[in-house]
Amino acid sequence: VDIKKITIKKGLGKNGEIDKIDYVEINMGDIVSIVGPTGSGKTTLINDIALFAYQNTPTNRTILINDDIPSSDFICDPSKNPIAYITQHTNFLSDLPVQSFLMIHADIRKTGNSQSIVEETLDFANQLTGESINPESQMTELSGGQTRSLLIADAVIIGNSPIILLDEIENAGIHRTKALDLLRNYKKIFIFVTHDPRITLLSDFRIIMENGAINKLIITDNLEKKAVSYISRLDDILLDLRSKIRAGDIIRYEYILDMLNFNQIKEGVLL
Ligand SMILES: Nc1ncnc2c1ncn2[C@@H]1O[C@H](COP(=O)(O)OP(=O)(O)OP(=O)(O)O)[C@@H](O)[C@H]1O
Ligand SMILES: [Mg+2]
Repeated sequence: VDIKKITIKKGLGKNGEIDKIDYVEINMGDIVSIVGPTGSGKTTLINDIALFAYQNTPTNRTILINDDIPSSDFICDPSKNPIAYITQHTNFLSDLPVQSFLMIHADIRKTGNSQSIVEETLDFANQLTGESINPESQMTELSGGQTRSLLIADAVIIGNSPIILLDEIENAGIHRTKALDLLRNYKKIFIFVTHDPRITLLSDFRIIMENGAINKLIITDNLEKKAVSYISRLDDILLDLRSKIRAGDIIRYEYILDMLNFNQIKEGVLL
């Protein structure tokens, strides 16, 4: 099936309040964030999408694909399911070496030369994570960041899924700006549950959840997009500090001021 869009038809929040947006339409190529406080229903909304909800989940929402009720093949036949879902608590159960695991998946999908597809997948994953993945390592030995990176790369390249759902990648030590840049090169629908300002503002729009219900949609305007470069700067500084701490370095505030290049940035965000 050629996926052109997903529609979320309104349902109910935790206390029976109705979603404030009647239809949320997500078009092919869109990157969307779902935001909101802890417990506000972000994972529940992304689950509705993953399950192709048809008024059969606690939220009573309906998910349409290309304005239609999704074919039951999507749910019954994993090879026809257009959705790859990387959950909040994904772990590998397989103790195969990374290389063999990817080869098996590539052979099953038969999307081309398995060897080169596996190399492309590893290369993609290594651009997302700080620590390179050793293809001989067992899947279960990978770190959180490596696991998420490999799952994203596997879903994008080997699985070639047109719709990719990601629940909170931020804690996993993934290079976020790079991830979004890389993902933009693939024409897919990406839906992120996130608390991360950078991922949110690099999205086309965001869905704001409250009390289990969809409360608001915000389309990222040019002024918000402009803020991303400042946020990226702050984020890079934090990443750098984190790696210095890991390496056992001593931190001094002069170093941070210097990194912030205070005079240059103060008109932008800090004051
Ligand atoms: N529309 C809804 N109807 C009924 N129950 C809901 C609804 N939305 C969320 N819930 C329930 O509320 C609880 C919290 O929801 P959920 O896990 O989706 O929140 P979250 O925003 O993902 O939180 P976190 O940021 O902690 O991951 C869950 O038990 C979920 O089943
Ligand atoms: Mg959640």
